[in-house]
Amino acid sequence: MKYARVLDLAECDQTHLYLSKAISNGEVEPRDIFKCAMTCAHEAGEMIRFAIKTREESPHKLHDTKSSDADLVTETDIAVEKAIRNRICATFPDHLFVGEESNVSISATDRQNKVVWIVDPIDGTTNFVHTFPVVTVSIAVGLGDDLILGVVYNPLTDELWFAWKGCGAFMKKSDGSVIRIHSSASKSIDTSIISTGFGVPMFRRKTKAVKEQQEALSLIERNTRVLMTQSRDIRRIGGAACDLCYVAMGRTDAYFEFGIKEWDIAAGLIILLEAGGAASTVGGVHPVPLRGRNVLATSTESLRAELSTLLSDKDINKLLDAIENS
Ligand code: IPD
Repeated sequence: MKYARVLDLAECDQTHLYLSKAISNGEVEPRDIFKCAMTCAHEAGEMIRFAIKTREESPHKLHDTKSSDADLVTETDIAVEKAIRNRICATFPDHLFVGEESNVSISATDRQNKVVWIVDPIDGTTNFVHTFPVVTVSIAVGLGDDLILGVVYNPLTDELWFAWKGCGAFMKKSDGSVIRIHSSASKSIDTSIISTGFGVPMFRRKTKAVKEQQEALSLIERNTRVLMTQSRDIRRIGGAACDLCYVAMGRTDAYFEFGIKEWDIAAGLIILLEAGGAASTVGGVHPVPLRGRNVLATSTESLRAELSTLLSDKDINKLLDAIENS
């Protein structure tokens, strides 16, 4: 399949329906939104590739840290977000923008009936700092909290995943061909490879909420034990957007994590759902609350239901709040 065909997909009826709800006084141009998202992804990819080359040539270059040595932000995160934000704001001045580095939160009420771009300029910043090649730019577009477009691009492997609501999910491979992707048929933990994140920054954080930190650690140990004793194997690839795309295309069968933010998961979630996968919180709440910091994504609904029973998210939001706010 060629890119021209991909652009036609952006005109599918479902998309018109969703976008026309949002834009009442003008022409609905899903094609323009799609093109802008793709342009942003490729421009960001160029910047990330260049920065990685520089890092490989001078690996000891300093980087900034957020709250600890395990919670990083680099000049590239900031520069890439700025470039994406500038392009989106210039092209669509009426749309809202939520980005990891801008760190502005917009409530569900303020998003209602608005087109919202949700952007992680570098998902996998720790991988980026170490030049470990799971680094993506993640761009989602929602109508309020209803996701309608997702684009995730790994410029280091030149793999790009994207989905429009109602149109299916696709991957552009490094040879330029575009394929439709589907999640695997795995229905049970016994035959599943499951990826996760362990929330290391949460445990490296200096906080007064020591008791809550220990409780959160026990919860993660408990869930890891389930994977270690019942799954086919475990992966920790270091980028939530990529974790979701890997489930969407069958490289893995499930992914779950606590503490993730909306920019980490928004684009990957719609790609996963359009690829036939299922998603909820670990406890089974669905649709996944975008700002709920808790996601379970699986190849099939049966696997989601099984994992939701086996894993626990008991008190996780209360624990995360206590750790982050003290
Ligand atoms: C992080 C990655 C990582 C996940 C963290 C995220 P960032 O995003 O997705 O895999 O474990 O929870 O914060 O900070 O690299 O954009």
